[in-house]
Amino acid sequence: MEKVIHVQGLSVTIDDTNILSDLSFSAFKGEVTVIIGGSGSGKTTLLRHLLGLNPIEQGYVYVLDRDISGLSEEEMQVMYHQMGVFYQDGALMTSMTVGENVAMPLIHQSNLPKALVNDVVMMKLGLVNLKDARDLYPSQLSGGMLKRVALARAIAMDPPLLFCDEPGAGLDPVSLKSLDHLILNLKDLLGISIVLITHEVSSIIRVADRIVFLDKGKVIFEGKLKEALSSEIQELRDFFSVLRSEHAK
Ligand SMILES: Nc1ncnc2c1ncn2[C@@H]1O[C@H](COP(=O)(O)OP(=O)(O)O)[C@@H](O)[C@H]1O
Ligand SMILES: [Mg+2]
Repeated sequence: MEKVIHVQGLSVTIDDTNILSDLSFSAFKGEVTVIIGGSGSGKTTLLRHLLGLNPIEQGYVYVLDRDISGLSEEEMQVMYHQMGVFYQDGALMTSMTVGENVAMPLIHQSNLPKALVNDVVMMKLGLVNLKDARDLYPSQLSGGMLKRVALARAIAMDPPLLFCDEPGAGLDPVSLKSLDHLILNLKDLLGISIVLITHEVSSIIRVADRIVFLDKGKVIFEGKLKEALSSEIQELRDFFSVLRSEHAK
């Protein structure tokens, strides 16, 4: 299977403390890879290195077959056109309408004529079931709707690869479920490969193809969701124990 991400021997040390230690894993085309692990295990640090936001000092990070440590700033900018990012807080511009927020990457990163920008915006809003919200402002939307706008903006440029850091944070279970279904749609309908960080066990069960489990900056498990659920590794058993206790009810 084609790899969209390949990390080999990545180590990160800050002030003599190992934050990531000799970390290796892969994510594959057309799959949702979920990175899990306790608070402080290194998930966000890893994501920042995958996005080229932190310099890679030890080890290798390949994104879409390119070794990103060797890229110039201009080359990295070109890479960013192929990498959508969906941040935890949505990071929408409050002074702009929903439509203008989704249009932003298209205006800044593509040469699309204005009329086409509008078409693309409507198509992306349609994908997240928000066609009617185009002219509303973020302050007029619910938490779940804000997340969906952020998702529409993250895929505005049709990136083959989408990164999500805690996309469901702060959502009620029903909104979370509908966000998960939208994420699955992006995979199934658009063929986007997705790398997602989340704590929500219910989300993981719904969306994950593969699991990468971090503990103290190390990968202690990498494999299919099914293998993760039946793993004998204590940290995984503890992580998924919530699920077992819910099933037992
Ligand atoms: N810039 C930094 N300076 C010092 N320590 C950091 C920095 N960034 C992260 N850390 C430490 O690295 C560890 C991993 O953090 P993080 O990647 O945010 O974990 P997670 O996202 O899994 O909660 C934590 O112990 C955190 O305190
Ligand atoms: Mg984090």
